[in-house]
Amino acid sequence: MSGDLVARDAAAFFHQDGSSPCVSALHGVDGVWLEDEDGRRLLDLHGNTAHHIGHAHPELIAALKDQLDTLPFSPRRFTNEPAVALAETLLSKWPGPPARALFATGGSDAIEIALKLARVATGKHETISIEGSYHGHGFGAFGLSRAAPDARLGPFLPGRHHVTPYWHQDDGALRMVADVRRALEASSRIGALIAEPIRSNCHVPPPWLWPQIRQLCDAHGVLLIFDEIPSGLGKTGRFFAFEHVGATPDAVVLGKALGGGILPIAAVIADARLNLAPELSLGHYTHEKNPMTTRAALTTIEIIERDGLIARAAGLERELHSRVAVMRKDNPLVDHIRGKGLLLAIGLDPERVNAARLPIATVVHLLREHGLSATAKDPSSFGFSPPLTITDAELDWALDRLQEAMMAASELTAPGSAAIQNGSRQRLNLDLDEDVIGGQA
Ligand SMILES: Cc1ncc(COP(=O)(O)O)c(C=O)c1O
Repeated sequence: MSGDLVARDAAAFFHQDGSSPCVSALHGVDGVWLEDEDGRRLLDLHGNTAHHIGHAHPELIAALKDQLDTLPFSPRRFTNEPAVALAETLLSKWPGPPARALFATGGSDAIEIALKLARVATGKHETISIEGSYHGHGFGAFGLSRAAPDARLGPFLPGRHHVTPYWHQDDGALRMVADVRRALEASSRIGALIAEPIRSNCHVPPPWLWPQIRQLCDAHGVLLIFDEIPSGLGKTGRFFAFEHVGATPDAVVLGKALGGGILPIAAVIADARLNLAPELSLGHYTHEKNPMTTRAALTTIEIIERDGLIARAAGLERELHSRVAVMRKDNPLVDHIRGKGLLLAIGLDPERVNAARLPIATVVHLLREHGLSATAKDPSSFGFSPPLTITDAELDWALDRLQEAMMAASELTAPGSAAIQNGSRQRLNLDLDEDVIGGQA
């Protein structure tokens, strides 16, 4: 039973924000579906943004079984076919000048490689990043997320400059450019600006933002690093999310879906001119060139390309915009859909949400009650980010369930609603996930 495993989990693991408590225990995953130990099936609109090709893709599993039988591991200093082929494939996608790659097991580690490359190339160690962003949990990566993480964690890297997020409702993009300019004028020690080109809270930047930041970086000898750990590999309807924003970075970091939603792997792709310090270790992790993880990535990219999944993501974005526009007519609680490709979020009318004091966790819970697994993106929106492999029938099913869940949420916001009176809204307030709201995709 799910409840037993959730209780054993709670007793065995350290508790941490964003992970505990678990809502249920999984028995199986398949395509867009999660199935829990109680036999309940949920359509996965989150998938930790690792499920671009759906869960347990049969071709990926077959490729991994084959890899297990041939070459399951490769110690450092030896190379192997899947690792080299993956690097070559990723480099062939890079639109900038010649590039090189390095792999790590997780996104946070790959971010740290990118930071080291920038330090070595520029001789400068300070960083600019966006306040309220998320780049992983390493001491380097996590310090980029916010200026003042919890004091109990102690000091992070020195020289971190945090700027206004472009998605801040009061002229965020203008303030972000002004903050970046101010930081660059105040310090000559800044070597890197790191950000998601399209934040995984699904706010799309204005088209002038990244070209201006690119110019500022160039003028001050600062490397621009894009974190595409959740948004890369076609999720936004282009292979790299930065292909939407009018700026090519000096380095891009991929992760999450790179392992096909099965194995952990992340990659840094960067301008080959940063290949400056062969005598230094930049991140030679134990599983750097693991043939299993690299084969997973190679097969994932093959599937994405062969099945036209990037174009599918772009097409479904248009479809979803018009379907949600229709939904809004019947339900004024539904305010908008935002994002690119299938990196999407649905926003509720903030005034109604505030007036009813409706916690977004309650909405996420209602979605789950209606068969949809999603996460909060901010206090009035949640992610709608299915795999790129979702079929038309599955999408219709998801939209029908979404409509039902939104009607149920709308009832909770009606003035004087019985639900509010009898406190059932509070009963549903189970899992406000601050880390998802402020953090990871
Ligand atoms: C934008 C972004 N960067 C970095 C990371 C860290 O990746 P990992 O969990 O693989 O270390 C995440 C994970 O959620 C992310 O969303």
